[in-house]
Amino acid sequence: MSKKTISIIAGIAILIIGAMFIKHQFGSHNSHDSAQESMNEKHVIHWTQSTKSALIKEMHSINQNYQALVSNLAQGNWNDVIENSHNIHSAFILKQELSEEDMAELHRILPERFIEMDSKFHDHALKLAMAAQAKDGELASMYLGKMAEGCVSCHQVYAKGRFEGFSTHEESVHEH
Ligand code: HEC
Repeated sequence: MSKKTISIIAGIAILIIGAMFIKHQFGSHNSHDSAQESMNEKHVIHWTQSTKSALIKEMHSINQNYQALVSNLAQGNWNDVIENSHNIHSAFILKQELSEEDMAELHRILPERFIEMDSKFHDHALKLAMAAQAKDGELASMYLGKMAEGCVSCHQVYAKGRFEGFSTHEESVHEH
């Protein structure tokens, strides 16, 4: 073998090893996927039967009252707007008449972020009631919008399994 042949073979070997190294370092798509999976897993709440039914009860009440709210606000029915907002405000899942056991369970299973979203949402309901008390239609509409944002942002993270339309919603893994 000539020196030239040897150095060509050595060169090829270095290229192959280099390519393998790069693939190993940067091509680890599988670990990226599983990182993303565990991100999603973080958003799965492991409801028990009774805490789930408490949540669904809350959601039905919220849903009904929210629809009525839109209509009542549009018509300037301030007293009804106040009532609807108060109903939503007091439907707070952590304020329901739950057994001590269920309450402890909720505190165990609910992620902090869920509780934050939920309390922000209920806070907006209270502020809407206050705006209605002041007959301030513009401010009330603003809180109505913030509440709708609240439904969507919570559902697209914590109710993906329930709502087909949010099933493909992915949160950015890279938080800036
Ligand atoms: C802090 C979180 C959160 C907020 C805010 C929220 N929801 Fe929900 N909602 C959920 C979760 C979680 C589920 C899905 C439960 C499940 O997996 O079945 C749900 C389910 C529902 C359901 C389906 C109930 C059923 O019968 O299965 C309706 C309707 C609903 N929400 C309406 C609303 C509306 C309307 C708003 C806003 C005005 C809202 N929700 C705000 C968390 C939230």
